[in-house]
Amino acid sequence: MGRVHLFEFNDQPWIPDAWRRYITEYLQFMMEHGPFDELPKLIGRVCEGENEDVQIVDLCSGSGGPWPAYLEEPMDEFDGVEVLLTDLHPNTDAFRRIEERTDGRVAGHREAVDATEVPEQCSGPRTIVNGLHQFQADTARAILADAVDAGVPIGVYEVMDRRIPTLISTLFVPLFVILLTPLVRPFRPGRLFWTYLIPVVPLLIFWDGLVSALRVYSPEELRKLTAELDEYEWEIDSVPAGKGPQRVTYLIGRQKQ
Ligand SMILES: C[S@@+](CC[C@H](N)C(=O)[O-])C[C@H]1O[C@@H](n2cnc3c(N)ncnc32)[C@H](O)[C@@H]1O
Repeated sequence: MGRVHLFEFNDQPWIPDAWRRYITEYLQFMMEHGPFDELPKLIGRVCEGENEDVQIVDLCSGSGGPWPAYLEEPMDEFDGVEVLLTDLHPNTDAFRRIEERTDGRVAGHREAVDATEVPEQCSGPRTIVNGLHQFQADTARAILADAVDAGVPIGVYEVMDRRIPTLISTLFVPLFVILLTPLVRPFRPGRLFWTYLIPVVPLLIFWDGLVSALRVYSPEELRKLTAELDEYEWEIDSVPAGKGPQRVTYLIGRQKQ
């Protein structure tokens, strides 16, 4: 079905920071524990051809997505890699915990970073995990063009898609949130209050999950976004994310040789 761009709560400037944290911390938990075994290999490929010690600049990082899990224990794909997490609304509390957990291999940038205008001091290959779908086509293109202007590789990864089974599966999200909330870290009394006493968080995550799936760019749409950025070669595909039915749609762009 076609791409539908409805609003996500997570995008709204008016939602309380605490609620934004509850959403992105749940996402972080799911990225760490979900059935996405193929994702590290695909993400690691953004560093191909780079020096041995490389810093990835992750955009739209939320509460860290999969990164703490990837760099906490040595993983071949990320040998010699460090990661700088960035976000328009940095969750500095999550960044501090991730820095401790990974001995500083994943660090968080404390100032706001807009993915369309990444400051020069954040240099290195860029990644966006489950983030590009948030943007209308013009902004998504501007994000890719900013990487092209900086001459750095960029990898974009989405583990949702617009297939009917994926959309149906989002109906179970509130149930998952209710079951998994006690495992989401850090422990926050507010998370329990807004999940079990007044169930705002399950509804926010359900809505944002459904809308995210409807907003994800298909490989064809990603090809259109990159059509005029011809200084770069773009690899675009959708492949199984692991052994389950989930798929990952990805784009990796780098300067033409
Ligand atoms: C879906 S969430 C987090 C996804 C995260 N990468 C993960 O895997 O869990 C998307 C994040 O994008 C951030 N964001 C929204 N607009 C942005 C922009 N223009 N520049 C940078 N970050 C932005 C939001 O603050 C939010 O934390």
